[in-house]
Amino acid sequence: MSHIVVRGGSRLKGEAEIQGAKNSVLPILAATLLTAGQVELRGCPRLRDVDASIRILEGLGCAARWEGEDVLSVDTRDLSGCAVSEALMREMRSSAIFLGAILARCGQAELSYPGGCELGPRPIDLHISGLRDLGAEIDDAGGVLHCKAPRLQGREIVLSIPSVGATENLMLAACGARGVTTIVGAAREPEIVDLQNFLAACGARVSGAGSSTVSVEGGKPLHDCTYAVMPDRIAAATYLCAAASAGGEVFLRRAREEHLSTVTAVLREAGCSIRSGGEGIACICRDRLKAVRPVRTAPYPGFPTDAQAILMAAMLRCRGAVMFEENMFENRYRHVDELARMGADVRVSGRAAVVTGVERLHGAPVRCTDLRGGAALCVAALAAEGETEVSETSHIARGYEDIVRDLRDLGADVLRTEH
Ligand code: EPZ
Repeated sequence: MSHIVVRGGSRLKGEAEIQGAKNSVLPILAATLLTAGQVELRGCPRLRDVDASIRILEGLGCAARWEGEDVLSVDTRDLSGCAVSEALMREMRSSAIFLGAILARCGQAELSYPGGCELGPRPIDLHISGLRDLGAEIDDAGGVLHCKAPRLQGREIVLSIPSVGATENLMLAACGARGVTTIVGAAREPEIVDLQNFLAACGARVSGAGSSTVSVEGGKPLHDCTYAVMPDRIAAATYLCAAASAGGEVFLRRAREEHLSTVTAVLREAGCSIRSGGEGIACICRDRLKAVRPVRTAPYPGFPTDAQAILMAAMLRCRGAVMFEENMFENRYRHVDELARMGADVRVSGRAAVVTGVERLHGAPVRCTDLRGGAALCVAALAAEGETEVSETSHIARGYEDIVRDLRDLGADVLRTEH
């Protein structure tokens, strides 16, 4: 079992390269099914969730091979199945994203219901109703989705919630539908723009991603392509918050501020000086952070729910109090109890959490509860006096290629131990 040991209390100084975006590469890996060809993904991060997606593709008869440090080549010519095993569906909750692409390619699909996850129930009712709108027959009795779509027909679909996954699933299914599909009320995340750019590189006619109306002209054959995945904005937010937590100055190569401007706005309000350009983002944090206005998570371009725990960790020693409101997931404060073991003062009541800044934090043995909660523990530990041992770090490996490598590049006293 691998642990991460952080010796906190020293300021950061260094630069790190930001990995490819987990939440972009996962739908893109599903989209490779639409090409029935060969795709080369550059800047592909080596993550547990990418490994799970590769296993799903291999289970469908496709092949994927690492060609270099961060180059993954995927060959979906020999697809021979349309079912995803329950074990794989349980391993990665976002595997539901494969449904639209399998239906578009095969005309049928069989997936078990992706379980909930540490964040609470993760319904896919919008995915299913949208696919039914396109003509798919979906029998979801008994925990398995039996789907048939001999002919998907493009039309207007209205999403009642700007669901990222539903938007992506419907974009992929729409590529296999006859005519034009318009998704109204679509999510606007940068990862959806990245998916649109990937599909366009494969010859698809997709437009509007980044706005709340996305259009797809289906029925176009898609072809091989080489594509560079966008940088991971949540990884970038993590390392900005690490600098804010410990103090110091860092440079994050490849990070793009336009993807995380709500996070940099809060860090600037807290007293960090942030400068960004074509090469990346520089962040200097000299003093203890100031308290900031309430932080409310919301669909993009609002404050990203994935950065809530991470920013909270950076604010634990702020001068004053900060209120958080988690509006996207029911159970996204599981990191609070672990932060309290380090001396944090965080009071949770329903969707709200109030952080009252403390003079000092102390190292303690803590346990990861979920992906971003685990990253938050590392961020908090950088500001704690003494040693913090973070266990159950497999959660972190789902979304960070190597958080120890990156934090060490930024000058942190961090190491990985096995025992
Ligand atoms: C994506 O999850 C991300 N995952 C999440 O990142 C991210 O937190 C989330 O979007 C919100 O930005 C990937 O991209 C792989 P949603 P997704 O559908 O698509 C409700 C991380 O840490 N909803 O936008 O599952 C849902 O319950 C992960 O990297 C329905 O009710 O999120 C939630 O309250 C965690 N019915 C809200 O919508 C549906 O059919 C937003 O969920 C679908 C969603």
